[in-house]
Amino acid sequence: MAIEVTTIPRHIAIIMDGNGRWATARGQSRATGHREGVRALRDIVEHAIRRGIHILTVFAFSSENWQRPRQEVSLLMDLFMNSLEEQVEALHHNGVRFTFIGERSAFPSKLQDAVERAERLTVANSVLRLIVAANYGGRWDIVRACRDLAGQVARGEMTAQQIDERLFPAYLNLATLPDPDLFIRTGGEQRVSNFVLWQLAYTELYFTDALWPDFRGDQLDQALAWYAQRQRRYGRTSEQVRDSQDA
Ligand code: IPE
Ligand code: IPE
Ligand code: MG
Repeated sequence: MAIEVTTIPRHIAIIMDGNGRWATARGQSRATGHREGVRALRDIVEHAIRRGIHILTVFAFSSENWQRPRQEVSLLMDLFMNSLEEQVEALHHNGVRFTFIGERSAFPSKLQDAVERAERLTVANSVLRLIVAANYGGRWDIVRACRDLAGQVARGEMTAQQIDERLFPAYLNLATLPDPDLFIRTGGEQRVSNFVLWQLAYTELYFTDALWPDFRGDQLDQALAWYAQRQRRYGRTSEQVRDSQDA
């Protein structure tokens, strides 16, 4: 009988959805929901550390979220800024390396500076890699990478033939990090909403009705238990997978 070395995912990607509905159901403002959402993220980061997860990529603000009412957008920017300033020391203390992915030039310059400071402060930490995706879109990421590569080919720095499935993702925002093993979306919707697209090719997809502010350690454990039951085949047969584990 094969012994699983580990069934804990190395990399989890989360769409933290449902803050607005959580608040509306309580007769509160969407702002309150987003604030509770930050609290949930703090808990999940701590729990992920306890469970030995190495990389956590969370979707905080999509390229499409700019279409929300101006007031909500600016509230989200303020919340991002304040939470970063409030949490960065604790993250650092816990050995978390903070990274941001997305088009950061669209953010207020104060926020860009805070992000850069947090990235610099935590760069040598290795307990957990926390990657926050904001003003991020999977399609934007892919197009950006294509543009980069096309530029290199045009300048004669590489040939078109050199571009293959191994080289291409190195030009995406997550670069050479391993693809997510487990994707979690809270809030009941079963869609990817333009989150990391290239990297989800073989990710296990977990959807839960729990709204993000309610998603805490015990719910993450449920997702981990579900993940542990999956057999990742990458196109092979179950028998082949079992045989390679027995070997
Ligand atoms: C997710 O919660 C947070 C962001 C998209 C910023 P929502 O704000 O989308 O919450 P619902 O989906 O409206 O409940
Ligand atoms: C996805 O949630 C983006 C984030 C959680 C940041 P949305 O609430 O924006 O997604 P849709 O619009 O329901 O697909
Ligand atoms: Mg939503």
